[in-house]
Amino acid sequence: MSTKSIPLSEVLKSGLLPGKNFTSEASEYITFLVNKGGPDRQDYSLLSALLNLFSDTSIREQISQNEWKQIQNSFGEALSIQTIQGWAFHKPLGYAGDFRIIDKIYTYEESANPQLAKWDQYFHSQKAPQAVRNRQSYLLEQIWQTSHEHPAMSSILNLASGPGRDMHEALKVIGPAKVFIDCVDQDIRAIDYAKSICQDFLPQIRFIHKNVFRFTPDKSYDLIWSAGLFDYFNDQIFKRIIKRLKTFLNPGGKIVIGNFSENNPSRGYMELFHWNLIHRSPEHLQHLAHDCGFTMNQIRVEQEPEGINLFLILSNS
Ligand SMILES: C[S@@+](CC[C@H](N)C(=O)[O-])C[C@H]1O[C@@H](n2cnc3c(N)ncnc32)[C@H](O)[C@@H]1O
Repeated sequence: MSTKSIPLSEVLKSGLLPGKNFTSEASEYITFLVNKGGPDRQDYSLLSALLNLFSDTSIREQISQNEWKQIQNSFGEALSIQTIQGWAFHKPLGYAGDFRIIDKIYTYEESANPQLAKWDQYFHSQKAPQAVRNRQSYLLEQIWQTSHEHPAMSSILNLASGPGRDMHEALKVIGPAKVFIDCVDQDIRAIDYAKSICQDFLPQIRFIHKNVFRFTPDKSYDLIWSAGLFDYFNDQIFKRIIKRLKTFLNPGGKIVIGNFSENNPSRGYMELFHWNLIHRSPEHLQHLAHDCGFTMNQIRVEQEPEGINLFLILSNS
């Protein structure tokens, strides 16, 4: 079967909404890709157009549970935990966005099964994983800046530290500077994993196994960093935590919070596998910060080069 024989491809190219045979046509196209060992580069735009449709609420509402199952089943082994998309779907560690999937993204991990590796190559080509990888250099900049602003000793809090890969990459570049990082994560497996990744820097890091809701520090911080956490919080929880973090800041300190933006082109792909985030606009982030008592000149929003991962920057000076 060739993609040309599938009317769905014409629908996707033309930007029209799919017709009533959408489920079977989508499943057929996915099966076609599976049978040829995964998508090649030339398949990416059509596959992405198809997957993007899943972020359209009006389309999602038309698809029954059974039809979802049919589409998901058409991936076969490509939706097992041997692939990253399958890991996202099955959540073998019990929750979305666990430290292992984030580290698979950072390290461009590919399935050991050659029949499935192309699915991981497709996954890594998406803009959302690229935005996650871009967080590493953004964190490096933040730590670098903080260490210059507080040269005697910079005190940093990393909330939901996950695999620790971003910290490791930053400390490798910065060297044994006078930087001390407290890491909080609720998953002991993430902490053990991060300890092994960051083993060269353990004197500079303290790991705290806690849920952020129950974390009360024994010191205050020059930089409070959190990426991959607040986009799982609704507005009410978002604000509750920010208000608490504000009390943990040293004078002249800042809070930097990552949150995926509303223009995430990989949203449909992620949501197909129930990796649901709360996407926010820069204005919405500013509004939430304002509600937490920050004045407009204490609030800034930046972004990584893809423009997908936004960073809300809050200062107390
Ligand atoms: C998406 S990863 C982000 C990791 C890291 N910040 C990064 O960007 O590489 C999310 C991490 O947050 C942790 N986490 C989720 N909810 C948490 C909570 N309420 N308290 C502490 N850690 C939490 C998870 O255990 C996981 O390791």
